[in-house]
Amino acid sequence: MPVDLILKNARIYAFGKIVEAGLAVDNGRIVRIAKESNLPSASEKMDLEGLLVLPGLIDVHVHLRDQELSYKEDFYSGTCAAANGGITLVMDMPNNKPITMSAETLRERMEIASGKIVVNVAFYSAFPKEIREMKEIVDAGAKAFKFFLSHKVGGLDPNDEKNTIKAFKEASRLNIPVAVHAEDGALLNESFRRLRSSGREDLDAYLEVHSQEAEVSGIRRAIRLMRNSGAHLHICHVSTSEGLRIIVGAKRSGSSISCETTPHHILLSSQHMREIGPIALVNPPLRNPSETLYLQRALCNGLIDALASDHAPHSLTEKESSSVWEISAGIAGIETMLPLMLTMVNKGLLTIPDLARLMAENPAKIFGFRGRGSIIEGNYADLVVVDLKREWTIDPSEFYSKAKFSPFEGWNVRGKPVKTFVGGNLVMEDGEIVAKPGSGRIIR
Ligand code: DOR
Ligand code: ZN
Ligand code: ZN
Repeated sequence: MPVDLILKNARIYAFGKIVEAGLAVDNGRIVRIAKESNLPSASEKMDLEGLLVLPGLIDVHVHLRDQELSYKEDFYSGTCAAANGGITLVMDMPNNKPITMSAETLRERMEIASGKIVVNVAFYSAFPKEIREMKEIVDAGAKAFKFFLSHKVGGLDPNDEKNTIKAFKEASRLNIPVAVHAEDGALLNESFRRLRSSGREDLDAYLEVHSQEAEVSGIRRAIRLMRNSGAHLHICHVSTSEGLRIIVGAKRSGSSISCETTPHHILLSSQHMREIGPIALVNPPLRNPSETLYLQRALCNGLIDALASDHAPHSLTEKESSSVWEISAGIAGIETMLPLMLTMVNKGLLTIPDLARLMAENPAKIFGFRGRGSIIEGNYADLVVVDLKREWTIDPSEFYSKAKFSPFEGWNVRGKPVKTFVGGNLVMEDGEIVAKPGSGRIIR
């Protein structure tokens, strides 16, 4: 019997290096990586003309919205955007309307998603009000819990230390990671009240509220919670050098901890935010150029585990307000992440193995996606084909995301995802979505 598909004449990132070979896919899995003459016969053959094949990216931090926030993004637009960005699996955040915080809300979200998604989707849940419900949520298929230290999202108030410890202990017992938005809510509130009452409404006031100290304090608290509970801790979007040093220290002393940063935190600084304005407003905010550079170097030096987009789409009106306190924070970054990283590869700042480790291998390891994250025989055929030489200019009007604006607008980049395969099915080809809504899978 011939296999389903052969990708021939490719350069494949496999076995830790780039090999000139072909790849055979059958039943959604990679069945053989070999020179063309050694590949089985196939129903369909695709000539990749020497392009590079990477493992499909796993973006562990995405706000797909939908439901009552569909005007910002929905499962179809968000997963089309993912496919356009070379991402084959996204992890959906719980700060939705309604909030994902029970087995019921999670099942409802999965049900809606199943008819719309074109790439694979896994789900975070917020903590429920009753800690005993955490097991039901995990049984319903949540891959991780997400906890905001900044404000209450879900059933657990981050100021409730006693129950927070209990929730972390339960996550440990259920053997499921807790991802934390580490900004200290008490510090945020205190400076917010002070600055707002003094009449400040400018972008710099926002930076003063969302200070580096707020992140550092949040990270310290998250680590205490992890140590008291044994749960695996994943720190979202690290944006400060001090925060990262603390995480690296904890990891070296044997703690079960991982962290991610984002393309915007390693490529943009507060200076960009002042020039670009609210489109570049995000939590945690863009930092001083020295912090940005520190994080970029740390990423290149292997101190950071993962790169995630924190794709946080909003409507344009929500991004436009004269008072900074009214603006919705967030950057729609899922379609620009891989091109920006390929540009760094072309500049010699990052290598292809780094890229695969940060955006596929480590995300699969941290969140337990078996059979994904690397190109080996037996794994799912989640793949992205990239043209490393393609030079183009980022134009948000071409995004599949409903948020058609970006702080990276007008950037000249080198490198583009040109084909995305999910489970062996072609989903994106040359910027066109060719898969049907509902072709993606929910990963439990
Ligand atoms: O900038 C942000 N936007 N930070 C968050 O933590 C939430 C996110 C959103 O959902 O818009
Ligand atoms: Zn966050
Ligand atoms: Zn987020």
